[in-house]
Amino acid sequence: MSTFSFLLEGFRHMRTTGTLTRSSPALCKAAIDRIDFKNATVVVELGAGDGVITKYILDKMPAHGKVIAFEVSPELCDDMRAFNDPRLIVAQDSAENIRHYLDQIGVDKADHVISAIPFAALPEALGKSIVRAARDNLRPGGCYNQVHYSLKTKNYYEQAFGRVETQRVWANLPPAYVLYCNK
Ligand SMILES: C[S@@+](CC[C@H](N)C(=O)[O-])C[C@H]1O[C@@H](n2cnc3c(N)ncnc32)[C@H](O)[C@@H]1O
Repeated sequence: MSTFSFLLEGFRHMRTTGTLTRSSPALCKAAIDRIDFKNATVVVELGAGDGVITKYILDKMPAHGKVIAFEVSPELCDDMRAFNDPRLIVAQDSAENIRHYLDQIGVDKADHVISAIPFAALPEALGKSIVRAARDNLRPGGCYNQVHYSLKTKNYYEQAFGRVETQRVWANLPPAYVLYCNK
């Protein structure tokens, strides 16, 4: 999707996209930081958009790995399907349904979860249920990395994971945060 179309998609669905721009290269790199991809079999991405972070994940994933990328916008899902990567499963669905997609590939837990869902723009009950589903379906020791533009919902991750480390990423429009949690 072109930058202009992405901007239009952002205007049309501001309540679910939460932004008008996709993540910068610096933010994409920070979003996948601290993850040991060598030993990862299944990585789940929440709020994948047109796949800007997904490409960085796929670059690091082993050949036998799987990436399940959740995205509610059909147009943005089509962009990811166009990657034609057999390791990528595009889940055109809301992220609280993570269990269903792990069952479909016969996997008990995800190794890591990376999210850019704009929880501050979603109803609190939905946001908390997505974060809980991510934690419940993450293996012990797995990372949960969350991209955000504010720290308004930091308590969601503290409630689910306990300790949360925060990193500011200035090289993004607007400057962003990545919150790092471990199960
Ligand atoms: C801030 S954008 C991030 C897009 C891309 N990952 C990036 O970093 O530029 C958030 C994305 O989350 C998606 N989204 C919002 N609610 C969702 C939900 N409940 N389940 C899955 N995706 C959702 C939106 O459609 C949007 O594409």
